[in-house]
Amino acid sequence: MSASYEVRDGVAVITLNNPPVNGLGYATRRGIADGVDRALADPAVRAIVLTGAGRAFSGGADIREFGTPKAIAEPNLLSVIKLLDDATKPVVAAVHGTVMGGGLELALSAHYRVAAPGTNVALPEVKLGLLPGAGGTQRLPRVVGVETALNMIVKGDPVKSELLAALPGQKLFAKIVDGDLVAGAVAFANEVAAAHAGGQPLPRVRDLPLAHPNADAYFQFARNTVRAMAPNFPAPLRCVDCVAKAVECAGRKAFDEGLRYEREAFAALMLTPESKALRHAFFAERAASKIPDVPEDTPARKIAKVGVIGAGTMGGGITMNFLNAGIPVTVLETRQEALDRGVATIRRNYESQVKKGKLKADRFEQRMALLSTSLSYDDLKDADLIIEAVFEEMGVKEAVFRKLDQIARPGAILASNTSTLDVDRIAAFTQRPQDVVGMHFFSPANVMKLLEVVRGKATAKDVLATVMAVAKIIRKTAVVSGVCDGFIGNRMIEQYGRQAGFLLEEGCTPEQVDRAIEKFGFAMGPFRMGDLAGNDIGWAIRKRRYVEKPGLRYSKTADLLCEMGRFGQKTGAGWYDYAPGQRKAIASPAVVEMIAKHRAELGIAPRRISDDEIVQRLVFSLVNEGARILQEGIASKASDIDMVYLTGYGFPLWRGGPMCYADTVGLFNVVHAMKRFAANPHDDADFWQPAPLLAKLAAEGGSFNP
Ligand code: NAI
Repeated sequence: MSASYEVRDGVAVITLNNPPVNGLGYATRRGIADGVDRALADPAVRAIVLTGAGRAFSGGADIREFGTPKAIAEPNLLSVIKLLDDATKPVVAAVHGTVMGGGLELALSAHYRVAAPGTNVALPEVKLGLLPGAGGTQRLPRVVGVETALNMIVKGDPVKSELLAALPGQKLFAKIVDGDLVAGAVAFANEVAAAHAGGQPLPRVRDLPLAHPNADAYFQFARNTVRAMAPNFPAPLRCVDCVAKAVECAGRKAFDEGLRYEREAFAALMLTPESKALRHAFFAERAASKIPDVPEDTPARKIAKVGVIGAGTMGGGITMNFLNAGIPVTVLETRQEALDRGVATIRRNYESQVKKGKLKADRFEQRMALLSTSLSYDDLKDADLIIEAVFEEMGVKEAVFRKLDQIARPGAILASNTSTLDVDRIAAFTQRPQDVVGMHFFSPANVMKLLEVVRGKATAKDVLATVMAVAKIIRKTAVVSGVCDGFIGNRMIEQYGRQAGFLLEEGCTPEQVDRAIEKFGFAMGPFRMGDLAGNDIGWAIRKRRYVEKPGLRYSKTADLLCEMGRFGQKTGAGWYDYAPGQRKAIASPAVVEMIAKHRAELGIAPRRISDDEIVQRLVFSLVNEGARILQEGIASKASDIDMVYLTGYGFPLWRGGPMCYADTVGLFNVVHAMKRFAANPHDDADFWQPAPLLAKLAAEGGSFNP
């Protein structure tokens, strides 16, 4: 039973006990219901206190039961809430730590609530594309007022109990209890029982009045605001509808009608692709940290000191991640000037955060104090983790890793931030390949969430476990990738880039392609992205490809662009023109002319290509390569690929990542679209051969993320 029962001083104390956060799983709900029945039947019990063991009252639904029959098995949350609503003895919810989602809805069905100071109170369902479906939208406004409640429901962020208890006229908390919460709650329950001993009716939240002096105008304003702030998500708007309904029903004393309305809105949101995508991302993030053959209890190595080699673009950003987490870093360079430049950039980044009010000045100094610099490998002798971010050349990496092998302490983890080189070859430069791993950060490394952890064939399991744990400490979303050219993210983006080139040859302008995919939700289209990252990077990769895989077709437009010296923002011109010092992309007549000329040389008559076709061709190129990556075991699950794209490549969150999106479209439809593209003489038939895994799943009616 996940709830315990005891009688203290004439009061039944029901304690939720389902670690870690007392999720309202089946056994916990059963335990509450049984406890309530027992307390109501026992003449020696005057009142009931509902509380939680451990660090929370309740975090809401038990996510381990999501999607299983247990999640809705009776007594479901609505039934437990009804039981409390109908209770004939006073019920006091004593909350501490966290009271969220269903946990708060449960507490709102008690007659009274008392809270420990510092309790986090939230209805976070909107973050999963849902709304509180067990009365939260109907009850919370009655105790904290329409506007506070709606803000909480639409944002989903936690609010501290003291703040809510200080609201004028609030009925959420009868008191804040300092000291022993349960003892305070039992004493309070006895006071209440005495006050109601004469049979006076018990206060129920559902019976409280609810009104807004200017309801129509207020809800109109709220709708406009959420539409503007979350245009791609249906849930916030439905939250407004439910709170508006609560006000309307209160006028007619029709609480149950409001509840029904909320229930229907909840059920409808459950079926939206947006909510499915958000729930997918929520679980994908948790799943990413689990590696199939690395047990969860694998002991991690201690990481107290970090070394970073190279103080360039990436080295600086990587260093900041560790300083932010309070971990000391020694940065190593070949020349003092490079060190000075690197440290100055870090300092400037922090100063701009201080200026924007995002970082306190004393914190800034604390962080800088954790940073030391060096020109000598001797200073990395006692580092637990050393991350190399030097030039992307095998020769340079070789020199660095041979040196590290000589000086690093036994057991130190040696990581490379390489984005294209073979981690197994790098590991082979050392006598300890088991300690070598790829840590592929994304630029700017202090901002981007994604960390691809590249697992070499010799990488030890405890090294992987350690790096995954470190990723959590520095607040990155880590995804494990096997060794291959480009790892998960860049290997897929190369195919997307090839397809973007074919689109230009057939009649698109860079602007049209970017606009279509940005309308689909990408943060940035391929050409604006190229201009930002530097078109010379792709050029170098293609030159290598022309030698390695001479049969592979690429559009020549990107090469012609580079031959014009248009490397992107850094040269003031790329696929677009840029005004000096500005980042705004302006359509370039010279580029459009270059593309038209090349098209004419190929003998292609331009055609108008729809936005739909652009989006499908770009996204399905990702999907097809993703399927190969999955089949080869480079990624261990489709949701890992989705996480890479959501956190590192600006894929729209509400579409759940490329593989999730393909599942939503239906793999049958994806394969059929690919057949159509393959038949286009100006596209590339080989390109559109469905990956065997994709073909198989489509034929079986399967999906990537079952
Ligand atoms: P960068 O050119 O900005 O910085 C490299 C730094 O390494 C320079 O400061 C240089 O002085 C230093 N360095 C070179 N040889 C060294 C040596 N033997 N010992 C110590 N320091 C040395 O290059 P960036 O962009 O920071 O790239 C570094 C690594 O990160 C490369 O492997 C690159 O492929 C990878 N990477 C780059 C990304 C990007 O967007 N720039 C993204 C992800 C990975």
